[in-house]
Amino acid sequence: MSSSKVAKTIPVASRVNRFSYAIRNIVTAAQAVEATGKKVRYLNIGDPVAAGFKTPAHLVEAAARAMRDGHNGYVPSPGIPAAREAVAADYAARGIPVTPDRVLITTGTSEAIELALSALVEDGDEVLVPSPTYPLYTAVLAKLGARPRYYRTDPSHDWHPDLDHLRASITPRTRVLVVIDPNNPTGAVYPKAVRRALIQIAEEHGLAILADEVYSDLGFEGSLPLLGTLDTDAPILSLSSLSKAYLAPGWRTGWLVAAATPRLDAPLAAMKKLADGRLCSPGPMQYAVAAALSGDRSHQVSFRAALAERGRITARAFNAIEGMRCVPPRAAFYALPSVSLPPGRTDEEFVLALLRDTGILVVHGSGFGLPPEAGFFRVVFLASPAELTAAYDDIGAFTREYLRHSG
Ligand SMILES: Cc1ncc(COP(=O)(O)O)c(C=O)c1O
Repeated sequence: MSSSKVAKTIPVASRVNRFSYAIRNIVTAAQAVEATGKKVRYLNIGDPVAAGFKTPAHLVEAAARAMRDGHNGYVPSPGIPAAREAVAADYAARGIPVTPDRVLITTGTSEAIELALSALVEDGDEVLVPSPTYPLYTAVLAKLGARPRYYRTDPSHDWHPDLDHLRASITPRTRVLVVIDPNNPTGAVYPKAVRRALIQIAEEHGLAILADEVYSDLGFEGSLPLLGTLDTDAPILSLSSLSKAYLAPGWRTGWLVAAATPRLDAPLAAMKKLADGRLCSPGPMQYAVAAALSGDRSHQVSFRAALAERGRITARAFNAIEGMRCVPPRAAFYALPSVSLPPGRTDEEFVLALLRDTGILVVHGSGFGLPPEAGFFRVVFLASPAELTAAYDDIGAFTREYLRHSG
């Protein structure tokens, strides 16, 4: 730089200060621990492939064949017809009749969340988000200048939504109800009566429902019905992807389905307009969507059985540690145990102390919107039963010491 110039700082937009994504942020702390030569056990990221589960070969072949066949250009911005048709046929087979023009192929559920919220909320509008929540919802709302209103889900009722608290959280600015079922970070599955009540509350207040159904095929006892099956006229935008139930999170391939109600026609047109601006989601992987939804799904049977076993091991282990509790998960690969923290301590302090002492990385509950003093932390139970059992033994030993010394 020439000496006549003053080095001016380059400012960062203030919206970034409101944006936080604890699941990845905490990895920085883990890397610092790793740099000291200590082995880190990553029980923090929900990536089944990283844990050794394999993407089904016929999906890999469909995407690879698309590349070899020269499908490497841009594709239509709402997605290739074969993928949209396959998603529509899958929803119809599950009891939600929709035409392919109501399907958008997106860059994972993540982009579907961003497209839907961008199309539905104004600056200053409010969105009902569960507490705890998957943090991308609040991160996107921060970018949009909209506000999350947390509705409680209740660990003493299997992490089901507290419907009275949900009703009391609605204001004239509320536009959208986010429902994450099966749930990350709690592993909860909502009963039919609760699902019906959620739809009814949304209808009473003219809210659109964002139904995050990325784990609907990962119920421990089998695939779960989609929310829209309870009322095919309800204004539900259903979101899912190949990431979890099809074991291909790195492909960034998902979908958004707008229920067949004319009330969603304008939001759907708005989302298509926004999707035009990003040209398309990754093309070759879209060729695997039909292979996934209309082909062999037997991998899900063994995956669900593996998850059910790990879920049982997890709940049993945490409930056996003095000072800890854990609601048994019913789906997906997450559990949210809690530790009774001494007054003045936070969940993040506990998680960082655990990391430094044992090398085990979990995510503090406040990263999902819970009060820091409540002592929750999320565990991803994708590692092998033997690795999990060893990690839980170490967490137990650490916790006994932690509670003895900080009491
Ligand atoms: C509830 C929930 N929604 C959305 C996503 C994002 O998924 P995708 O990989 O499809 O973008 C995740 C990922 O963990 C999730 O847990």
